[in-house]
Amino acid sequence: MFDLIVLGGGPGGYLAAERAAEEGLSVALVEKRFLGGVCLNEGCIPTKTLLNSAKIFDYTKHGDAYGVTVSSSSLDHAAVVARKNQVRDKLVAGIKGALRAGKVKIFEAEGEIVGRGDGFIVSANGEQIEGKNLIIATGSEPVIPPIPGLKEGFEAGFVMTNREILDMTTVPEKLVVIGGGVIGLEMASYFNSAGSSVTVIEMLPNIAGANDKEISEILKKSYEKKGIEFKLGAKVVSVGKDSVSYELAGETVEVKADVVLASIGRRATAPKGIEKIGVEVERGAVKTDDKMRTNIPGVYAAGDVNGKSMLAHTAYREAEVAVNNIVGKKDRVRYNAIPAVIYTNPEVAGVGYTEESATKAGIKYKKSTVSMMYSGRYMAENTEYDGICKVLVEEKTDKIIGVHMIGSYASEIIFSAAMMVECEMRVSDVKEMVFPHPTVCEIVREAIFKLK
Ligand code: NAI
Repeated sequence: MFDLIVLGGGPGGYLAAERAAEEGLSVALVEKRFLGGVCLNEGCIPTKTLLNSAKIFDYTKHGDAYGVTVSSSSLDHAAVVARKNQVRDKLVAGIKGALRAGKVKIFEAEGEIVGRGDGFIVSANGEQIEGKNLIIATGSEPVIPPIPGLKEGFEAGFVMTNREILDMTTVPEKLVVIGGGVIGLEMASYFNSAGSSVTVIEMLPNIAGANDKEISEILKKSYEKKGIEFKLGAKVVSVGKDSVSYELAGETVEVKADVVLASIGRRATAPKGIEKIGVEVERGAVKTDDKMRTNIPGVYAAGDVNGKSMLAHTAYREAEVAVNNIVGKKDRVRYNAIPAVIYTNPEVAGVGYTEESATKAGIKYKKSTVSMMYSGRYMAENTEYDGICKVLVEEKTDKIIGVHMIGSYASEIIFSAAMMVECEMRVSDVKEMVFPHPTVCEIVREAIFKLK
């Protein structure tokens, strides 16, 4: 009998196994595809590898603006993909090493919950294992809506998800992206730099979903300048052999494509047999509280599978909270200060309330929006100056409740803002803090000093 069985080896699962082993528990980890899950193998890390190559290539194309002449440059997409695979392999090997060091028993199989004995019984490759506790970390999969022709497009290799597109070794002449959310925008950004003509079709009136609307508009304009075409308020209604059709303002429009990326959201994937132990599932997601407990004592769920946040960094924290609760330590996840990033160029990052969500929650707030041009380093390192930083402060308490930005280093700066939100800092607290100069993160201080 293991102390703990972890189902799924992505960020939620492998970190839970690692932390549990550090706590002295005997752990079995069951993973059907790859350790590292979507994040390491076909999500966060592969896309960042591609986007970094695109950024380097873009610099070479605009070197003149910085006084650097690059006589010729090209992007070898197959080499970029090969490098992405090397990075992935090294990171996956690192995870294997850490699990081995913790004496975690790894089962390379699809785990199926078969019932209860003294503990929870899981079958993996025909072998039955039993655990006193169970952490479900089986992640999510792309949503494939019943759009006519979409399924056939997948079968023909014409339509792809993040999984297939990241392994494609050629650059399509024409890429049509269905869905202007995070995956759609990051991939549109890469393939635009790599030379594809890109059209993004988005059902909502704005790209980047729940992000600050002013910022998503800046991002859209910045990408329109680079040549990406956006069709907003446009719903894809069918997919043909070499085209996609969408409805816009009552008309149906057809756009030709060499490759179509379907990035229409993800949905939680609960493990097989979950009903056998009576765990509550709501619209595919395993229901948990903020201690990651399900309705069944001893069963926890961390990561995308609980449908709460669907971000790798949330999964990490949820995994730790689940393990801490198993070993009797008091811990819970606070979901109000989870930063979100889109790694486009310029980067977009935000934490806490947006203007829209604060208004919806009935919170009265003050805001300060400043141009990134107030940052000396931003000016020194950019030639286009459309970045902004917006800080929201609760009127009643003067607490910082949201920070949103677009511009270079936003992905790295946002953590300092997340600490302000998490620690419920007031404007006066931040005013007393020293920011390194010259950095782009000074922009947060600048915005705070400009609050009226
Ligand atoms: P998403 O939910 O971010 O965006 C999907 C978009 O598709 C939405 O804007 C939706 O309105 C649109 N849509 C849906 N049906 C449509 C139709 N028929 N026609 C046109 N538009 C349609 O989902 P996405 O981009 O697939 O990402 C999935 C998950 O992966 C997200 O939950 C995200 O958290 C995670 N992720 C996070 C990243 C990051 O943190 N940087 C990067 C990539 C993925």
